Amino acid sequence: MDLMQRIKEIFPGESEIPEAYAWKDLVEQRDYLLHGRLHTWEGLQRDVYSPVCLQQDDGIASKILGSFPLLTEREALQALDSAVQAHDRGCGTWPTLSVIDRIRHVEEFVHAIRGKRDQVVLGLMWEIGKTLKDARKEFDRTLDYILETIDSLKELDRVSSRFHIQEGIVGQIRRAPLGVVLCMGPYNYPLNETFTVLIPALIMGNCVLFKPAKLGVLLLRPFLEAFRDCFPAGVVNSLYGEGARIIGPLMGSGKVDCLAFLGSTRVANSLKNQHPQPHRLRSVLGLGAKNAAIVLPSTDLDLAVKECLLGALSFNGQRCTALKILFVHQSLAEDFSHRFAESVTRLPFGMPWQEDVQITPLPETGKPRELSEWVEEAEDAGARLLNECGGLRHHTYLHPAVLYPVPPCTRIYHNEQFGPVVPIVPFSKIQEPLEYLVDSPYGQQVSLFGTDPQEICGLIDPLVNQVCRINLNSQCQRGPDSFPFTGRKDSAEGTLSVSDALRVFSIRTLVAAKGTEMNKEIITRIVRDRSSTFLSTDFLL
Ligand code: G3H
Repeated sequence: MDLMQRIKEIFPGESEIPEAYAWKDLVEQRDYLLHGRLHTWEGLQRDVYSPVCLQQDDGIASKILGSFPLLTEREALQALDSAVQAHDRGCGTWPTLSVIDRIRHVEEFVHAIRGKRDQVVLGLMWEIGKTLKDARKEFDRTLDYILETIDSLKELDRVSSRFHIQEGIVGQIRRAPLGVVLCMGPYNYPLNETFTVLIPALIMGNCVLFKPAKLGVLLLRPFLEAFRDCFPAGVVNSLYGEGARIIGPLMGSGKVDCLAFLGSTRVANSLKNQHPQPHRLRSVLGLGAKNAAIVLPSTDLDLAVKECLLGALSFNGQRCTALKILFVHQSLAEDFSHRFAESVTRLPFGMPWQEDVQITPLPETGKPRELSEWVEEAEDAGARLLNECGGLRHHTYLHPAVLYPVPPCTRIYHNEQFGPVVPIVPFSKIQEPLEYLVDSPYGQQVSLFGTDPQEICGLIDPLVNQVCRINLNSQCQRGPDSFPFTGRKDSAEGTLSVSDALRVFSIRTLVAAKGTEMNKEIITRIVRDRSSTFLSTDFLL
């Protein structure tokens, strides 16, 4: 069968879906978690459609998966009040609980969610089109992240379990919670990236409101009972609905102490601007990026093609860390581009549950159309489409497109595509990609390909001031999760990693006293009687 025909037949009939991966019943989620209770919503719902379409008698149609509540400003403010009440201006049970007790609650939570893997994996495949393999990886990575967070907090606590004496002053320094944290994850990692902010925020003693992204909502439903059962009332509250309607009033109230948001720079700016006292708001943001690969003359081409392929097209290019533009030295550009395009041609495409599949339908409404227009625009501007059927769209599916040579007058050259279109740009002088990075509004990561230490070394020093991670001969990525994940300019605010996240969701706080006999006696008594959770030398094992 020719390629175009295979694309036209990408969507299965309902009966062709393997039993284990079928979405059997509509999930009409009406509940939301508010102050330790699952409330039933009787109002308007938002239907959830899958990027996976089905062949039906009368044509191809998106499969409807269910619906979720469209809460109003009223319920959003109730959720905020619930978190504010649980925090109780810092005097609530949760913010004053000892570290070991907070850890116990989180361990209970891990135990409660372990069995949800299959349900969540199914949701990731059907709601956002993530492949089975990547969906399983997302779940497992998230669980590992939580366990590493627990270990990291124990380590942090051990380091804080001692007194410092400087200039005659005795002090104990620990980290205290910030207050109420609003967590909003992105649709491409709806579980992992939501939990990589929510769990550290919680375990540090904050009270949390979380709102799923616009896509990947139902898959978080299985966690509501676990949150309800494992944490005191009001410590975790869920929000569902249109961000534009329900998040503005929360920010405008001035009661959100910390905003943890993974999404677009535009939305982040608008949320931050609504806070009446911006200096009181801490922001932890993971935003847009246009990570570049720079392929130098000394490059091992096989390796560069393999890594650029992974970097540009894993999960259809829908990763903030994806390689979104490839600069290739002109001495290799033709060769690299053709090899790259051949590799793209061999990428298996299809439904998320199919074995080894790499390219799947796109969940964002209008994305295939928008990107196919960008492809046409680049072609009109002189770029060649190097792979057969590149940019061909069929309902929610967009066949990956490799474009070469892409001129600067196109949208794909400057804008973040967040999809399966790969622009390749030849360069003759290294200043060309360097200037691109300097002028870019983004500053997350870059990948450098080359085998000559001199050549690489000459780029590391200028590039460390443009981006926050330089990957040598490998794609850009967030992991390992113990490494710092951040960006400059419009790409991020604050740093995330297992240990950094504990820091961003807390503030250094100390008890200090002049080392007089009286003060020493007071401190000794408190510590000996173990009457304070803060002033304590207990050592967590
Ligand atoms: O979408 C952005 C993610 O944080 C990227 O993570 O590099 O592990 O895919 P990843």
